[in-house]
Amino acid sequence: MTASAEDPEPKSRRSSIKIREMEIDDIAQVFHLGEKLFTAESAPNTYRTWDEYEVIELFYGDVEFCLVAVKDEKIVGFILGTTITKTHSAWKYGHLVWLAVDPALQRKGVAEKLFRRFKDVMLKHDVRMLVVDTDAENLPALRLFRRLGFGNPKQHIYLTMNMAGERQLMKKKTNGGN
Ligand SMILES: CC(C)(COP(=O)(O)OP(=O)(O)OC[C@H]1O[C@@H](n2cnc3c(N)ncnc32)[C@H](O)[C@@H]1OP(=O)(O)O)[C@@H](O)C(=O)NCCC(=O)NCCS
Repeated sequence: MTASAEDPEPKSRRSSIKIREMEIDDIAQVFHLGEKLFTAESAPNTYRTWDEYEVIELFYGDVEFCLVAVKDEKIVGFILGTTITKTHSAWKYGHLVWLAVDPALQRKGVAEKLFRRFKDVMLKHDVRMLVVDTDAENLPALRLFRRLGFGNPKQHIYLTMNMAGERQLMKKKTNGGN
């Protein structure tokens, strides 16, 4: 298949994208790419919030599970994860926490490539089961995860409580009821 105007870099040429472990100098690039993709509008209900601390915490805690996709020395994707061991369970779980690909390079297999390496690293660390969660409306991610081999979805209800009223009341009380 030859490249068309809509598809300037078909999957056959994605070998120009290299996957490697994240390094300290990558933190800012990873954070800014995530900032573009994990907006409040795109994931208004996510219980984890994308911020600098999220990246730094995962990087310092589990650098081996933080990988980046690089093209022409620019980070075009990343996958960040961690492992979980539960009391009374011999099993070690791998948690895929964040996965993102630059919009300009989506649908070219970058996420799949990142995940394949991530899975290898998890296997080397004796992980028995991988878990991932995403918004129920994030159809691209759900299709991707199914294609990668994830299944057996469990429903989880997410509730919120707006504290605006209580906050107003508290402010009034601390201001002496004025
Ligand atoms: C989800 C995301 C990581 C996919 O990255 P990607 O590099 O485009 O994915 P890939 O090219 O490896 O896609 C592999 C397969 O996943 C599915 N898929 C990926 N994106 C899709 C989309 N937008 N619509 C439908 N299916 C999609 C397809 O089956 C695709 O195979 P195909 O292109 O041969 O049909 C990317 O869209 C993204 O960064 N989204 C915003 C962040 C996010 O939601 N992250 C996931 C939750 S942490």
